[in-house]
Amino acid sequence: MTKNLFLRDTQAAYITAVGAAYCGDSLELLQQLPNDSVQLVMTSPPFALQRQKEYGNKEQHEYIDWLAKFATLVHQKLRPDGSFVLDLGGSYEKGVPVRSLYNFRIPIRLCDEIGFFLAEDFYWFNPSKLPSPIEWVNKRKIRAKDSVNTVWWFSKTEFPKADISKVLAPYSDRMKKLLNDPEKYYQPKLRPSGHDIGKGFGKNNGGSIPSNLLQISNSESNGQYLDGCKTVSVKQHPARFPTKLPEFFIRFLSDPDDLVVDIFAGSNTTGQVAEAENRRWLSFENNIEYVAASTFRFLTKKNSQEEMQLIYNQICEGKTIDLTKYQLDIQSNITAVVKPGTYVQTSLLD
Ligand SMILES: C[S@@+](CC[C@H](N)C(=O)[O-])C[C@H]1O[C@@H](n2cnc3c(N)ncnc32)[C@H](O)[C@@H]1O
Repeated sequence: MTKNLFLRDTQAAYITAVGAAYCGDSLELLQQLPNDSVQLVMTSPPFALQRQKEYGNKEQHEYIDWLAKFATLVHQKLRPDGSFVLDLGGSYEKGVPVRSLYNFRIPIRLCDEIGFFLAEDFYWFNPSKLPSPIEWVNKRKIRAKDSVNTVWWFSKTEFPKADISKVLAPYSDRMKKLLNDPEKYYQPKLRPSGHDIGKGFGKNNGGSIPSNLLQISNSESNGQYLDGCKTVSVKQHPARFPTKLPEFFIRFLSDPDDLVVDIFAGSNTTGQVAEAENRRWLSFENNIEYVAASTFRFLTKKNSQEEMQLIYNQICEGKTIDLTKYQLDIQSNITAVVKPGTYVQTSLLD
């Protein structure tokens, strides 16, 4: 199912069987995509801006204006049944224990001015998040630990492609008992809430409908990626997705062969998951070192240290690497540099 995924005016940093990673400003890269072509944009904008959260209201407005430019293009590029999933951490106002409203202003702006619909608000609960801000939580003990990110699911129309049965959660022990012996554990009746839970309730659907509170710890090891960073002695990306987060939305909101794009790709967790889920993918990231290191996600322990180093260096030098050569023939010499000019507009989105 190999399909080329090349942008008209920009050369990829690397390509895999079903995806391509580009280094550049997403505002420029997004423009090279045909309109109505992307099924899912799954992304998390730079937290650096939030970390300088010493910013006051003016900067928050600048941040919203900045993000709105990307969102406008995303809206153009999405298919009519496409989705835009945006993970945003919260923050405090400068110097006071008062929450910033910026991550709530963003959905209002995107829906009121750009034309998105808020299909659903999700909350990513990360139990392994460290207590912060230290001043209000640890020192003065006047606020609770902040451990939830808002994850806004926007859509271009009211009925985006979505199938919750693809992301069912495991049944609880109680539910498993009920499924094994419904008569013993449950008497069908009308609940005080008005919900009529009839006999069908005891039917095994293979899992339970997940809620919009996603509990995902960010402590996973990222094996290949971290090993590669160590091998080549480069810094790991500081704000990576846990793979379960893009995995949930990719399975829920797209089908195999659909195009998934991450416009702030960082270490390209989204691309790695999309590849594993047989979705075509594009990733855009403006820091070449992050792009180069993200190749490690697609390599294995069988790739030698020299190969990893060379791939990393060549991408930093602006060459395009065809990773399938390394994935298919790990003993091969380094012959997989794609010559400049090889890329032409091809069947990007058929
Ligand atoms: C929060 S990180 C994303 C991390 C990613 N989800 C992962 O799993 O590694 C945001 C990334 O956006 C990148 N970025 C910031 N502005 C950009 C722009 N205009 N175009 C492309 N990438 C940008 C930053 O360099 C940073 O790596």
